[in-house]
Order: sequence, then C-alpha cells, then structure tokens
Amino acid sequence: MGLIQEIPVYLGTRSYEIVIGSEHLSSLGSRIRSLDIGTDAVLLSNRTVFRAHGKPVTASLKKAGFAVHPLTVPDSERSKSLAVLGKLLTELARLQKPGRCLFLVLLGGGVIGDLGGVAAGLYRRGIPCVQLPTTLLAQVDSSIGGKTAVDLPQGKNLVGLFYQPRLVFEEISFLRTLPDRQVRSGMAEIIKCGVIRDSVLFDRLEQETIVSLRADEKAMAWVIARAAAVKAKTIEQDEHEKKGIRTILNFGHTVGHAVEAAGGYTGFAHGEAVALGMRVASEIARRMKVISKQDADRINSLINRFGLPAHIRGVQWDRVWNAMAHDKKWVRSRNRWVLPTGIGRCTVREGIPEPVIRAAIRTYWEE
Ligand SMILES: NC(=O)c1ccc[n+]([C@@H]2O[C@H](COP(=O)([O-])OP(=O)(O)OC[C@H]3O[C@@H](n4cnc5c(N)ncnc54)[C@H](O)[C@@H]3O)[C@@H](O)[C@H]2O)c1
Ligand SMILES: [Zn+2]
Repeated sequence: MGLIQEIPVYLGTRSYEIVIGSEHLSSLGSRIRSLDIGTDAVLLSNRTVFRAHGKPVTASLKKAGFAVHPLTVPDSERSKSLAVLGKLLTELARLQKPGRCLFLVLLGGGVIGDLGGVAAGLYRRGIPCVQLPTTLLAQVDSSIGGKTAVDLPQGKNLVGLFYQPRLVFEEISFLRTLPDRQVRSGMAEIIKCGVIRDSVLFDRLEQETIVSLRADEKAMAWVIARAAAVKAKTIEQDEHEKKGIRTILNFGHTVGHAVEAAGGYTGFAHGEAVALGMRVASEIARRMKVISKQDADRINSLINRFGLPAHIRGVQWDRVWNAMAHDKKWVRSRNRWVLPTGIGRCTVREGIPEPVIRAAIRTYWEE
C-alpha cells in the first residue's frame, strides 16, 4: 500500500474527504463504515469497469459488513439520460426493503458519477453516495464538487443538481487499465488546475510526461492530489457557482465546449477540446496583454508535452461560433473568459472584442 493523501473539502455540514492512494481498496469498506451512511451498498458501474475493478471493491465492502447490490448501465454518455435515470431510480425502489438503508457507490468515470449523483440526490430526496472515480478526468474533476447532471436531447447536463458525495475514494491503480488517450484527456484538466491556481503543480508537470507518470504511481498520486486540491479549494469558496469564483474552473472550456458540441461529441475527447480551449484563451490573454508572451508560451509548451492537440480540425467555424454564443455560462450575451495572467493565476473578463476572439481561434484553426 502506497502513501495515502487526504484532502478535506470544507462545506459545513456537507464536508467530506478526498482520499487518494494506490492499492488501498482494502480500506474502502471500513472507511465507509465509519461514516455510518447505511447498510446496503448499491454499486453502480458499467460492464467494462465492473469487470476490470468490481471484485476488490465488492470484497472490501462485504468485509466491512455491507450487503452489496451491483447494478450496471451501458458504457456510454447515452446513459446520462432521463430514461436510464428512471430505470435506476426504479431499481433503487425495488431494492428498498424494511431494515435496509441504501447508499450508492459510484464506480466509474464521469458518466457513472454524474448519473449516479443525480439518482442519489433525487431518490427519497437524497441518499448518501460515495464516488469511486476510475478515469483520470473523474479523479481530478467530475467526482469532486457535487455537480451532477444528465443530458436532454436539447443539450448536455441540462437536468441536474448540486449534491455532494459523502466520500471521494481515489484508487490510482484503477488507471492502469485506462487507455492512454483517456489519460491524456484527464491531463488537460490537471494542466488547467496548474495554470489557474497552482504554479508548483505546473512546474512539476514541466518535469513529467504521460510515460513518467504512468510508470510512477506515487508521482501520479501527487499530481492528482494537487489538482484535486485546486478543485476542492475553489468549490469551498463558491459551492453553488454564485460568486464567480468557481468560474475559474471553466478555463479552456468556452472554446472547449463549443468545439465538442460542434463535433457532435464524437471528434475530440473532452480534455482534448479543453486543451484547445486553453490555447485559445491564453492567446486571447496575450493579445489583451494580461499575460506575458513567455508565460503564454509555457502554457502552450506544457499542453504539447502531454500530447494534446494543437489544431482545431474537423468542425465548421459557424458551428463553433454559434455554440460559443449559446454557452450557458455567458452572462446576458456578453462573452466571458477565464484568462491566465501568469502561471498559477487567472482572471475573469467579460466583453472581449470579437476580432480578438476570432484571431485567437484562427491561430489554432486548421482549414
Ligand atoms: N460533474 C462534473 O463536475 C463533471 C466535470 C467534468 C465532466 N463531467 C462529465 O463526465 C463525463 C465524462 O467522464 P469521463 O471522461 O470519465 O468518461 P466516461 O465515464 O465515459 O469514461 C470514459 C471511458 O473509459 C472507460 N473507463 C472508465 N474507467 C476505466 C478504467 N479504469 N479502465 C478502463 N476503462 C475505463 C469507461 O467505461 C468509458 O468507456 C461527461 O459526461 C461529462 O459531462 C462532469
Ligand atoms: Zn472539463
């Protein structure tokens, strides 16, 4: 068992821990037991992940005295639908028996975490849930902070709620089975955290590569913990995204979301799109003279170092532009950008002149 790191998330009565380590699954059951959140664990996953990692999770829960009810949903973003959510809620009601107190354990990437989070928040007006993220993206981002949602045909993440987990338990060895492309995609969110709030993390990433991190789980755990801490600190200051602080986590996402949407969510992986978005936002920052050329270049070089894309391709300009204009985070149709002001620092700016935005996108546009 490797070094275990614990990051507290202080949210008053909704506080919880993010526990990060390698080969520490045996302690999962007893940790949950100490939280006193129920008798029966409903273990939600998909078949891919359950086959790879379900066994030791189930064993740890059983050893701690919990009954375990495994449930799987199809391995696809399409599981974030009202139809699958309805089935899941019905299944929870079916499992409800006298003397049973249910809680959810969400074993998977962001899809499972988001779907299961909504179900936990809605069923009986809320039952406890534990996030057991298995993708890098989920470990540094989606499992932390309590944003949960499912999709509608009209758009992604349109139906959801803020609902905090009772524990985020991160097992680094889950990542051994994760394809490289998924790891790179998650790295984009880690780079984001370094840029917006943690220059020490950024400096360290400049010394690492995907290969070095995959080969050294201690190094990977350190990097994940730093990024998770950035997310935790940010949401502590603005849990419900009301004060404009949580907005900084959106660095790279203005263009990122637009590129993803324009490609019908089939071209770029989320982190790949965010990487392009970070390049464009850094270019805007440089043109607006809020960051030095040298720091903007460092951000770009780090994105290159982790093998993330350098060109927006395979999408139509008008689609990207329209998707951006419809971004639900833009305030009263004024464009809004998270711009880096240095390494580990950023600012939120509204009303950037359109020619500056167009020129910055063109810098990375491949015809
Ligand atoms: N709630 C939030 O704050 C938040 C933040 C960011 C993203 N999201 C959401 O997260 C989702 C994307 O999450 P994701 O990138 O984790 O995708 P995902 O959940 O679809 O997982 C990606 C793929 O990896 C597989 N997989 C997962 N863990 C694995 C492992 N250890 N080994 C091998 N394969 C594994 C999955 O089965 C899936 O095929 C999107 O729906 C997005 O909207 C939510
Ligand atoms: Zn993201």
